[in-house]
Order: sequence, then C-alpha cells, then structure tokens
Amino acid sequence: MRKIILDCDTGTDDAMAIIMAALSKDIDLSAITCVHGNLPLRNTLENTLRVVEMLGIDVPVYKGCPEPMVQHILPGRILNVRGQQQKRTDENGETARIHDEYLPLPKATIKEQPQHAVSFLVDTLRREKLTVVAVGPGTNVAMALRMDPSIAENIEELVIMGGGVSCSNISQAAEANFFWDPEAASILLSAKTKVTVFPLDATTSALFTEADGNDFRAVGGRASDFFGSLIVEFVQRMAKVGISNTADPDDHSCAIHDALCILYLIDPSFVTDIRHETAFVDVSGGFADGMLIVDRRSYFEKIGDVNIAYRVDKQKVKNLILDILQSAN
Ligand code: BDR
Ligand code: CA
Repeated sequence: MRKIILDCDTGTDDAMAIIMAALSKDIDLSAITCVHGNLPLRNTLENTLRVVEMLGIDVPVYKGCPEPMVQHILPGRILNVRGQQQKRTDENGETARIHDEYLPLPKATIKEQPQHAVSFLVDTLRREKLTVVAVGPGTNVAMALRMDPSIAENIEELVIMGGGVSCSNISQAAEANFFWDPEAASILLSAKTKVTVFPLDATTSALFTEADGNDFRAVGGRASDFFGSLIVEFVQRMAKVGISNTADPDDHSCAIHDALCILYLIDPSFVTDIRHETAFVDVSGGFADGMLIVDRRSYFEKIGDVNIAYRVDKQKVKNLILDILQSAN
C-alpha cells in the first residue's frame, strides 16, 4: 500500500484523482491539501470537501495557499500570454468554463482541518515517509520545501501533473499548473527526491469520450456514476469553450490529467514512454513564463534529474479505472 498526500485544486480531473485514490486498495490516501489554481482557493477547498463527503471517506482536508509564491507581485507578468482559453461566452451570453465554480454535488457539511496545509506538510514529512502527489500549482509543496528542505528526504516520490514538453494549454508556451506558479514548479522539479512528471504530452495521449464516461457510469454505484459523469461533462465543456486536444478542432475528447498520477502509483505498466531528463521551468516573465524546458543535449552533465512520462496506453488506463471502480462495488 502506498501512503500518499494529494495536493490539488479541485477541479474536474482533480476530483477524478481523489476518487481513484480513495477507491484503490493499493493507495492509502492519508490527507488532501488544497491550493489555488483551476479556481480560487475557496472553490477548490469546497469542491474537495464535497467529493470527500460524497465518497464517505475519513480523510482530512487542509486549506493551503490562495496565491502563487511571488508571481502576482511582478507587474505585467501575465499580460504576455496569448489566448488564455479558460472561459468563453457562448451564443446565449452565458460564460462557459472548463472547470465550473462548484462540482455538481451537495454543499459540503464537513469542514477542513484548522492547521494550514503547508505546516501540515512540514510536520508530517518531518515524521514519516510518504509519497506526495501534486496536481495543482505547486505552491503548497514548494512552500513546505522552502520552510524545511530536509523534508525532501521523507518524500518517497514526488509525482507531479504539470508542464508540456511539446504542447501547452493555458498560454502559447505553458501548461496551467506550471503557469499559475512557475517559481513553485521550478522548486518542485529540483526537489532532492525522486520526481516523476506527467506533462500534457502524456495526459493528452489518452483521450476519453462521452462513450468512455458512460462505460464508467455503467459499473454502477455512486462513485462510478459520478466519475463517469465528470468525463461526460468535461467533454461537453471542452466543446462549449472550444478546446481540442488534437489537430481536429471538433474533437473535444478529454484528458484525465491528474487521475493519471494516482493510477501510475497503482500500476505504472500503462506508461509506455518515460524518460530520465534534465528539466527546468521558465520563470522569466516573458512569453515562455511557466514553460517546461527539457535539455536533451547528451553531452551536458545531467542536473535536476526528473522522470518525464511522454505516452500512456489508453486502453490499459481505461481497464485499470474499470477495475478500481468495480472492486469498490
Ligand atoms: C492541469 O490544470 C488543471 O486545469 C487540471 O486540473 C490539471 O491539473 C492540466 O493542465
Ligand atoms: Ca489540477
């Protein structure tokens, strides 16, 4: 059993990650920490609490950082970005977003823990060895590493969803998690532990359709139904906002980004291409702010070694999800 802390900005695919971690018998989901990102912190926290309550699991939730480490104090930094496609006004004048403000679940009645997520991470990782899965902007985990760098010794593996080597989403160069806190992303990539990254290259190599979502729903049970409906709804949102993950602008099949990081810990055999790389994040504030940069020059000494997943086998991913959903019934 792999004991983990999940740091997330729930978020549609973050919710899928929580469900996979909660249902899998190979994962001990010890805590969830929330961060700003897809939505403001109040939303990511409330959405996380809603999912935890829907699942009926006893997992503590911690509220973390509402803003990136330093990005907001650098004037004009975000203005260099071309085409942030997060929301669009549709033909009825309604704003369509990739992540709705609140997940379609009852308002949470459970509450977050009183301790701040960053001090929780520091306290816990001073005491015990754990795997940390960071699937939002890396602010919480980076702050913890800055407060006490020695906690890296107790991070068995740091699994990150972020970046794109040959693709981007939020800007012309950057993926959303790295874009919303480039300094934090940079700190995570240089953490002195095993670092494994699932960038857009990997996550968009397995795209899910409404039919896939309905297959998950057909497993039966509340969690499967909700997991499948998240995919169906995600595809519909992609269409409304006008985003495609392929060369065909009318293809709105969706990636399950964050959930892949959890699935990798359960059975990594679906990852068909993973490489040891030297990687950096651009923090210069220009057009490439937040961009994941991989140095492929073989004749340079490797510094900042990370494992980067490039491709996954969609059918294997789908089968693994079905297994997890079925075993929970
Ligand atoms: C990442 O950004 C967020 O929108 C998703 O939850 C995922 O973590 C994809 O770029
Ligand atoms: Ca996320």
